[in-house]
Amino acid sequence: MKTYLTGIQATGMPHLGNLLGAIKPAIDFANSKNDSQRFLYFIADYHALTSVRDPQKFSDDTYQVAATWMALGLNTENAIFYKQSDIPEIFELAWILSCHTPKGDLNRAHSYKAKRQANEENGKNDLDHGVNAGLFNYPVLMASDILLFDTNIVPVGKDQVQHIEIARSMAQRINQYYGPTLVEPQESLSGSGQYIPGLDGRKMSKSYGNDIPLFVPEKRLKKLINKIKTDSREPHEPKDVKDSLIFELYSCFANEDEKKSLAKRYEEGISWGEAKATLFEKVNDYLVEPREKFNHLMENRSLIDKELKLGAQKAREISSEVLKRIKKNILNF
Ligand code: TRP
Repeated sequence: MKTYLTGIQATGMPHLGNLLGAIKPAIDFANSKNDSQRFLYFIADYHALTSVRDPQKFSDDTYQVAATWMALGLNTENAIFYKQSDIPEIFELAWILSCHTPKGDLNRAHSYKAKRQANEENGKNDLDHGVNAGLFNYPVLMASDILLFDTNIVPVGKDQVQHIEIARSMAQRINQYYGPTLVEPQESLSGSGQYIPGLDGRKMSKSYGNDIPLFVPEKRLKKLINKIKTDSREPHEPKDVKDSLIFELYSCFANEDEKKSLAKRYEEGISWGEAKATLFEKVNDYLVEPREKFNHLMENRSLIDKELKLGAQKAREISSEVLKRIKKNILNF
């Protein structure tokens, strides 16, 4: 049995880049699973507590992410789907792990180092300014997420690889000391690796403010698509598909015939307005049904609660057994 596990950040409504780069590939991957694979996808809500200080936002963000995955077709028969805060064993193991982790390993974690560097650049005397202990311990909680489920493979983006290395070295250290106790996980680079451009041509990202959120109302979607950067070529002038953001985004949703036909219209001098209308229709067609499901779920949050509760039950069947084994080896209880 191979266990695949990954955590989903709870940062509110995902965007088109998240859909194409991560969510869709993860859903398809789980939906094609065979009998010797086990999938766990969970919402890392407690990780968000390192920065969120608004209770309403905290729960809204989690619901939005859960509703997104459900609306896009995650089959919870194929992937155990739960939220981190429903699994108390994660936090118990986190303590055990932190007591076996040299502080220096956490000093070297990229995100903590980046914070200190930013403080240095901003002329702060205290380089730990604005760093809470939760942020410092982020990699420990993440290792616990992983190790508690005997995870073999962790599909993640490049920016998370160091965190998996930290988890692996925790497992190795504990296994060396206490004998075989934890499965040593491997990362696998997840998603399509496809580069999804945002409205301004840089990588689509919430932090750049160039993103197209997945389930905004149709009107807003149209407005956003109309903002996509184009060159100054006039209607009727032939246009190049090569450096057209509109064409790039269209290609993410269209089949070969549709791409060819739009390319032909580019040669014939389609206006940017028409090209944007064509893209809007394509994206909107794709999103109509999930958007309806998403809105329905957000208006009936008990449906989400039910799914997550069921997932937590299944997850805890695994985690309670693994924690027992760990406590036996480390505490002799
Ligand atoms: N840190 C991950 C991110 O920022 C989210 C995450 C939390 C995670 N726990 C995890 C990913 C465990 C994989 C496994 O995207």
